[in-house]
Amino acid sequence: MHEKIEKNIGLMAVLIVIAISFGGLVEIVPLMFKGAIVQPAEGVKPYSAVRLAGYDVYVAEGCYNCHSQQIRPFRSETERYGHYSVAGEFVYDRPFQWGSKRTGPDLARVGGRYSDDWHYLHMVDPRAVVPASNMPAYPWLAERMVDGSTVERRMRALKRLGHPYSEEDIEGAAEAVRGKTELDALVAYLQGLGTQWTGQNGLSQP
Ligand code: HEC
Repeated sequence: MHEKIEKNIGLMAVLIVIAISFGGLVEIVPLMFKGAIVQPAEGVKPYSAVRLAGYDVYVAEGCYNCHSQQIRPFRSETERYGHYSVAGEFVYDRPFQWGSKRTGPDLARVGGRYSDDWHYLHMVDPRAVVPASNMPAYPWLAERMVDGSTVERRMRALKRLGHPYSEEDIEGAAEAVRGKTELDALVAYLQGLGTQWTGQNGLSQP
């Protein structure tokens, strides 16, 4: 039997495909039904209008190229960044911002670690607060205004995908971001990162 398979490349290819798809199914299908993957972790809510605008700035500026948002379950990580990340913290990130490169530190729990003023200074001129920093400056964010109608449409689209926004949330979006710069929104986003999940079990917290 074995010899037959080894000598018949067509048969071998078919059997390989079956073996791999079976392996894939075993890994992927359970994830689709496992609540922890698709349910928000305790306390985690969809982004407010301002923070959603900040999230969009984060994505647009490519912050994920240098920053991960995923604390791995190793002591070296949890001592530095706080409790390791859990899947339910990211259900409202579309797309998720886990990232795979850390030129700068992980940001999954940066919320509340610095003051708002620190973030404003740091984004406009990183060297003003961290002299050895090689992070680029983003001074234009302080001049660009958030477009309320875009945020409203974004929230409507996310609602269709299952994010539990109410009509009031959506209708109030333009008002909530009125007069806010992209920098205001980004700082609000950063200050909320990792602060919502209430199920963390007492490991070092920012
Ligand atoms: C070229 C790589 C690079 C890019 C792109 C980048 N950063 Fe950074 N970032 C760094 C480095 C390096 C540090 C550490 C030095 C410092 O604090 O400035 C840092 C630090 C930070 C910190 C402080 C984290 C901490 O725990 O001390 C925040 C917040 C931050 N970056 C946010 C952002 C945001 C938001 C963006 C996108 C607008 C961004 N970064 C883009 C490299 C980068």
